[in-house]
Amino acid sequence: MAGKKAPTPPKGPRVARTVSALRKTLGADVGKHTDARTVALVPTMGALHAGHLALVKLAKRRADRVVVSIFVNPTQFGPAEDFGRYPRTWDADLKALAGENVDVVWAPTADVMYPQGFATRLAPEGPALAGLEDKFRPHFFGGVATVVAKLFLQCRPDVAIFGQKDYQQLQVVTRLARDLDLPLKVIGAPTWREKDGLALSSRNVYLSAQERAAAPVLHAALSACAQEIRSGKIIAQAVDTARNTISRAGFIIDYVEARHAATLAPIHQQKDGPIRLLVAAKIGTTRLIDNIPV
Ligand code: PAJ
Repeated sequence: MAGKKAPTPPKGPRVARTVSALRKTLGADVGKHTDARTVALVPTMGALHAGHLALVKLAKRRADRVVVSIFVNPTQFGPAEDFGRYPRTWDADLKALAGENVDVVWAPTADVMYPQGFATRLAPEGPALAGLEDKFRPHFFGGVATVVAKLFLQCRPDVAIFGQKDYQQLQVVTRLARDLDLPLKVIGAPTWREKDGLALSSRNVYLSAQERAAAPVLHAALSACAQEIRSGKIIAQAVDTARNTISRAGFIIDYVEARHAATLAPIHQQKDGPIRLLVAAKIGTTRLIDNIPV
């Protein structure tokens, strides 16, 4: 067709797979005062969905350049957990990130992240020992803190975006950045949900049709619980009702808790808030988590 040019597809992000390639791509000045262009980092394990892309959109508003890391981090999975079958959708992820005009995808291999002889692991305390995820996934926050600290030092971002969906993780990472005097701001982004209230998660693909139909009960029960607490019901009673609703829908509950939104300490009275309601529960073989503010 003479005279008509095919539309040019969006230029894909640059993909870096080694630390030196990442440094080259970002420029030697990244994180130093000699480069005024700011960098936002969005750490992920891939299998990207609209919730991840909402973090990317926020990152674009907060910085000149956006780096998205994709790394399924083996050290945060327990031996009986789903590391092997965690969904990996590289081509679709890259296409989605090209559509968002991401500048750099940081996709190290496990050997790059943890070369032979690797022998250092952070041991976060405080919010990482709140008795929530840590109680059921004792490997989890040590692995998350170690990989996130490495991602921060590799990418040297000015801001890093995490989802409130993983609320305890957000508190642990916020504490980590503060405790290690890392020169960056951690930003928490709201949870992206399906129309029926189910929080988007890479693990939702594990759900059978029947489990998927039951799954919105997590958000519905937390919302009803928050409403009851706001209207003066005793917190322990409101949480008990939520527990019953969730187990009647077929979930095996790890925890349903009312906690202080910042410290994650147990909370018994509304005046001691702000309160965050958090749930983790299994349906079939799939473990889901969610949380909302009161
Ligand atoms: P992953 O589960 O891939 O999540 C990456 C980021 O997306 C996290 O900050 C998470 O809170 C956020 N996210 C997930 N679902 C969301 C939703 N429905 N709405 C908004 N944000 C959502 O969390 C991890 O990976 C890893 O532990 C990681 C931090 C990358 C370290 O390995």
